[in-house]
Amino acid sequence: MSLRICLVSSEVAPFAKTGGLADVVAGLGRYLASEGHDVRIFLPLYGRIARQDAPREEAAEIAAVSVRFNGSMQTFRCRVGTLPDSTAKVYFVDCPEMFEREPIYSSTYEDEHIRFGLLCRAALESCQRLGWSPDVIHCNDWHTGLLPLYLKSLYAWDRLFAKTRTLLTIHNIGYQGQFPARVVGDLGLADHRSAFHQEDLAKGEVNFLKTGLLYADWITTVSRTYAHEIQTPEGGRGLEGVLGARASALTGIVNGVDYGTWDPAVDPTIPARYTVDDLSGKAVCKQKLLERFDLDASDGSLVLGIVSRLTGQKGFDLLPDVLPVVMRDPRVRLCVLGSGEGRYEEYFQWLRDKMPERVGIYRGYHEELAHWIEAGSDAFLMPSAFEPCGLNQMYSLRYGTPPLVRKTGGLADTVEPFDRATRTGTGFVFEDYDSHALLAAMQELLRAFDDPEGWRQLIRNGMTQDFSWAKQGPDYVALYRRLIG
Ligand code: ADP
Ligand code: GLC
Repeated sequence: MSLRICLVSSEVAPFAKTGGLADVVAGLGRYLASEGHDVRIFLPLYGRIARQDAPREEAAEIAAVSVRFNGSMQTFRCRVGTLPDSTAKVYFVDCPEMFEREPIYSSTYEDEHIRFGLLCRAALESCQRLGWSPDVIHCNDWHTGLLPLYLKSLYAWDRLFAKTRTLLTIHNIGYQGQFPARVVGDLGLADHRSAFHQEDLAKGEVNFLKTGLLYADWITTVSRTYAHEIQTPEGGRGLEGVLGARASALTGIVNGVDYGTWDPAVDPTIPARYTVDDLSGKAVCKQKLLERFDLDASDGSLVLGIVSRLTGQKGFDLLPDVLPVVMRDPRVRLCVLGSGEGRYEEYFQWLRDKMPERVGIYRGYHEELAHWIEAGSDAFLMPSAFEPCGLNQMYSLRYGTPPLVRKTGGLADTVEPFDRATRTGTGFVFEDYDSHALLAAMQELLRAFDDPEGWRQLIRNGMTQDFSWAKQGPDYVALYRRLIG
């Protein structure tokens, strides 16, 4: 039996992306549609999409819908299109007053709660206008945290949703959507104050993610290890209590990879394509990458790649102690693509200025360059302090670019430590979050690189791993089926 699945997300690739959430929602949606399910995805029509990729087609049923939020009335319409290479429908919630602005998120927006409250309500209102009764509404991260509560309060009367179940996936517990308690009224939920976490209200707060955890019928997160970590005081960011209470409705499902986009055998954006049986294209990619960053391309170099949001999560605080030691090896080059907190951008820029022939940095967001770094680097650095799943380590496995990771969250679930003696394993793994442990893993990487045959086997081990949606997606389908009984 095919299912009706409604995905709601603040990011969907290629339309709006700041991180892995966008890739995961698109990849899952594409997989579900390819299995014959009726998939509809709801996403804000941000200014950038409106100007570039958005379909022009208006969804006739969803024109000028007004939604009452206490202080204001928001009116939206939807444009409808499909996900590229898929039949999954994408509904773009068009409300310029809320979504036209750049950037797509900002802590300076005073109406952030209304923006994402509107996304939740627009998804429900649109289902009503379409007369479409989803089996499961799959919410993602704090932006959609209020949806389960809306469904059980303001929309509880509608028989259309009588059998609808909600699933909330936590992609990152570091972002919870915390607002002053007074926004409850703004959100149209003044009559449902008792539904919110009472201790939070007493403290003058509401927390969107926590509210979602209380009311979603099921909760998932994006790896098995992270599912355990978030139930501990160190990993739960204050939500461990609520998660512990809901432990019987919480599972970890490792993210899938969209190998239609992230595979060097088919990737149209990289300088040359290659496969595990013929790596000559990878050498071309490396050469071109070094040229692009204007780096010394003499023989025998070892290129380390980084593609990342530059935030505390990603573990770059460990680098200032470690890189100077590693860079003593004249073979080492470093190519960094990222944007985020100034201190990290400035550190990498400083390194670049100090070693202009060996370090390259691009500060900003650059889709093509992300693929180039995956393909052209010899190894990939991801020393994350915490990592719910992580996609780049899985991409780099497929690109023959062994990842160096910390054993946390999804990194622990997807990278096996390489053993030089037996030549088993797929990358380099360190456990303690300190620079000594990272340095030891770096040194292990350098030693492994000294043995070309062993390194080739390491590449082979990684490239033949399968984290495709065809493999990971069935776990979601099984869960959806279990939820709807
Ligand atoms: P997170 O979601 O925490 O940022 P993931 O590893 O799950 O981490 O996903 C990151 C995604 O964002 C990858 O697809 C990566 O290529 C992409 N990405 C991150 N930073 C940049 C950037 N500066 N330019 C292009 N792509 C980026
Ligand atoms: C989050 C996490 C990342 C995960 C991504 C997609 O942004 O930081 O680890 O891979 O979501 O689930």
